[in-house]
Amino acid sequence: MPNDSRHPFLQGLSKHRGAQPTIITIFGASGDLCARKLVPAIYNLAVDNLLPADFYLIGFGRKPIPDEEFRSLASEAISKFSRRELNRDIWDRIEKNAFYCSGGYDEVEAFQKLRDKVDSIEKDLGREIQSVFYVSTPPSVFEPIIKNLGEVGLAKRHQDGDRHTKVVIEKPFGKDLESARHLNRVISGVFQERQVYRIDHYLGKETVQDLLVQRFANTIFEPLWNRNYVDNVQITVAESLGVGTRGGYYEQSGATRDMIQNHTMQLLALTAMEPPASLDAEAIRDEKVKLLKAIKPLRLGYSNSDVVRAQYAEGLIDGQKVDGYREEEGVSEESNTETYAALRLAINNWRWEGVPFYLRSGKRMARRVTEIAIQFKRPPSSLFSENEMINLASNSLVFQIQPDEGSTILLNGKIPGLQTRTQPVKMHFRYSTTFGSNTPEAYERLVLDAMIGDGTLFIRGDETEASWGLITPLHEFWQSEGQRGMESYAAGSWGPNASDRMLWQGEHEWRRP
Ligand SMILES: NC(=O)c1ccc[n+]([C@@H]2O[C@H](COP(=O)([O-])OP(=O)(O)OC[C@H]3O[C@@H](n4cnc5c(N)ncnc54)[C@H](OP(=O)(O)O)[C@@H]3O)[C@@H](O)[C@H]2O)c1
Repeated sequence: MPNDSRHPFLQGLSKHRGAQPTIITIFGASGDLCARKLVPAIYNLAVDNLLPADFYLIGFGRKPIPDEEFRSLASEAISKFSRRELNRDIWDRIEKNAFYCSGGYDEVEAFQKLRDKVDSIEKDLGREIQSVFYVSTPPSVFEPIIKNLGEVGLAKRHQDGDRHTKVVIEKPFGKDLESARHLNRVISGVFQERQVYRIDHYLGKETVQDLLVQRFANTIFEPLWNRNYVDNVQITVAESLGVGTRGGYYEQSGATRDMIQNHTMQLLALTAMEPPASLDAEAIRDEKVKLLKAIKPLRLGYSNSDVVRAQYAEGLIDGQKVDGYREEEGVSEESNTETYAALRLAINNWRWEGVPFYLRSGKRMARRVTEIAIQFKRPPSSLFSENEMINLASNSLVFQIQPDEGSTILLNGKIPGLQTRTQPVKMHFRYSTTFGSNTPEAYERLVLDAMIGDGTLFIRGDETEASWGLITPLHEFWQSEGQRGMESYAAGSWGPNASDRMLWQGEHEWRRP
């Protein structure tokens, strides 16, 4: 890549990770995600000298917005949402290359105008550069956007080198197996798979990436990472918030679509997959797909079922009374949408045969916490037989994904004193204590990786279909059952009793993080 066109401030950034000159177009640029995450991510990449010198930002949306207004909206968004304060010098250099294109997502003429804008940037620059199209709209318009990019010839540029066009697609990716397959077909009609970056922003979180490092850059865990030592694995994605003003949206979604099918299944795949042959994107994604395909179909029904669903009833959050789900704005009084789901998964392979993987996600739970807990088998009690002085816990290794990022090992230790008394003790590693608290946001990493062309932290088409393949029969079952089997839990609790009972069947208990 030539050096001469770089502004001194931006020089050296490609030394870090090689982002090449780029035009990013954000579809849905007047939206919430763009303001809260995408523009601040771009700004923070600039602060870290990770943007290419020739960097252009184009917002695209239906409402006409003059370039000047888009620039001031973007700078307001940085002031409000960026993890670092707005530095005018840095922002000015991005802002002068920021533009807005307006038009309908289904209007080919609007995409022709976009193409003209890209052409005119390249003409001024005197050469062609890569385009990244970031689709940050509601999913109802993913399809026309993809098709129109193909229609006006923006999708298939520079096919021979690494300057090929890239497309980033926000979640949700489909609402069931059939719609995910359909969207994959639409995409593959226009783009090659190597051009496609399906977002699951959990994968951009530092702690999720650290999971791979902890697993594969240490020797002490891998020998224990199997059915011989692991008793069960618990993955929790809990929120204390309710649906707020998004009740109407949530009614179409629910906990399994919103959280389990994507984030929780990704955490499961990274935790349980075989070691990849390399850290190459395809090697890691091959292992994840193999793991997802090895999950046995869920047992559905009412005795010995592998699933529990529930809705929150009124309760207390931080001492304040809050409404139940069916009383929320935009939610039907007869809603069948689950705000909590728990699944018991069995993985049909040599490593994990017989080890249950418990997944749960819910709104209005006791705490906001995302964690992966590896629960090891109990120690043999031949030396320390349990009595009132000996309290042996199962060892566990817990990855805290958010908040309070880090990991914890639970061990049994001796209480100081002349008698032999034991107590479970914890060894903590905290990101904020060791590295300081100003770590990059997930979207910074993901936007940079898309520009660079590294798909490791994005979902491949076959992964989306493998996880929908597991979840879709469950949705069909619930739909056929109506209200039957819908449990209830008090807001501010850890979920319904039925979920505890599912674990008791295996003589397990949910952790109380
Ligand atoms: N917000 C988040 O924190 C978050 C987190 C994770 C994932 N996501 C995903 O990211 C995407 C964008 O999220 P968002 O919160 O920014 O969405 P949003 O604010 O609802 O929509 C983004 C933009 O899309 C356009 N739009 C809205 N409704 C539309 C419709 N029915 N038909 C056509 N265009 C429409 C609007 O722009 P114009 O009117 O200017 O065209 C709007 O400003 C969604 O797929 C969402 O699921 C969001």
